[in-house]
Amino acid sequence: MSILAIDTSCDETSVAVTEGRKILSNEIYSQILIHKKWGGVVPSLAKRAHEERIDFVIKEALNKLKIKNLKLKINYIAATYGPGLAVALEVGVKKAKELARKHNKKIIPVNHMEGHIYSCFAQNRKGNPKTEFVFPYLVLLVSGGHTELVIFKNHIDYQIIGETIDDAAGEALDKAAKMLGLGYPGGPIIERLAKMGDPHYHKFPRPLIRSKDLNFSFSGLKTSFFYYIKNLKKEERVKNLNNLVSSYQETVFDSLLYKLELAMQKTGIKNILAAGGVLANLYLRKRIRDLLNKYEGKVLFPPFKTFYGDNAAMIGIAAYYKAKKGIYVDNLDEFDRIPRAKLS
Ligand code: KG4
Ligand code: ZN
Repeated sequence: MSILAIDTSCDETSVAVTEGRKILSNEIYSQILIHKKWGGVVPSLAKRAHEERIDFVIKEALNKLKIKNLKLKINYIAATYGPGLAVALEVGVKKAKELARKHNKKIIPVNHMEGHIYSCFAQNRKGNPKTEFVFPYLVLLVSGGHTELVIFKNHIDYQIIGETIDDAAGEALDKAAKMLGLGYPGGPIIERLAKMGDPHYHKFPRPLIRSKDLNFSFSGLKTSFFYYIKNLKKEERVKNLNNLVSSYQETVFDSLLYKLELAMQKTGIKNILAAGGVLANLYLRKRIRDLLNKYEGKVLFPPFKTFYGDNAAMIGIAAYYKAKKGIYVDNLDEFDRIPRAKLS
């Protein structure tokens, strides 16, 4: 079963062709250079860039496979319907409908976060991960827009057990980097500088660490970081930049690890999936592995670097399991009536 998948949820225009968990092509056009000078994603610019690029990216994804006739070679069209930037999502959804109409295909609507979950099962060239799914999984999703703990009970069956009540963890990293004038996206810049700093240089408040629920909160931490650096002399800020970002990153990751551990204790699930842009961070992955060693649990991350960030192949993989369950839309107008935000 071949699927052409489209994701335009934020600042990457991506199109992929997948077959089950196999990735035949996965084209990603990043808009980072467009948004960089604004210190974050500008919706109107994102929309325009998606519109300008989408046809080209589709062509590239098909050309890689020498597919000339989409009608013959592709069985379904999949597209991210949400969550994400509404004006950006619209571009991919509109294109998916146009292709489905033209080539008489069914559309599989995919939630962006279920795409991130299935990114852990993308096969690499050696065919790994070889393991079949061993349900249930406890999933930690950490991206620029989301921080969630999810029980992945079975294919396309999720229960959110914890989420952020304000900012997402990636957003907290991006905003701190912006306050320090370090550039966008902040996560990878902070990772690089934090390696050279002392994570225990300053103790920032650990939000919700005393609460026994599984929710996260990062906006108080961000505010406390803002006032802390505001009260520092410029020379001190420059001299201790690496220590500052290292301590801040440590606090963000402590919150993630603390709630992940609590979720493991509450649910008894030791089979973990961890995905989303922030998981590109090597140090965070090491800390998760260390935690899992303590519990003799297992963790599966996405198999390639490009799979931590947004990409259409993960949407194609999730779509495959939806198609197997008969989840697709016949009437294209139905596509517009799907609730955009929640993973369910
Ligand atoms: O999943 P993603 O690409 O897009 C969303 O769906 O939001 O996540 C983007 C987030 C940004 O906040 C970015 O700063 C963060 O992932 N990120 C990182 C790293 N690479 C990207 N955070 C920490 N360390 C990294 N190496
Ligand atoms: Zn994402």
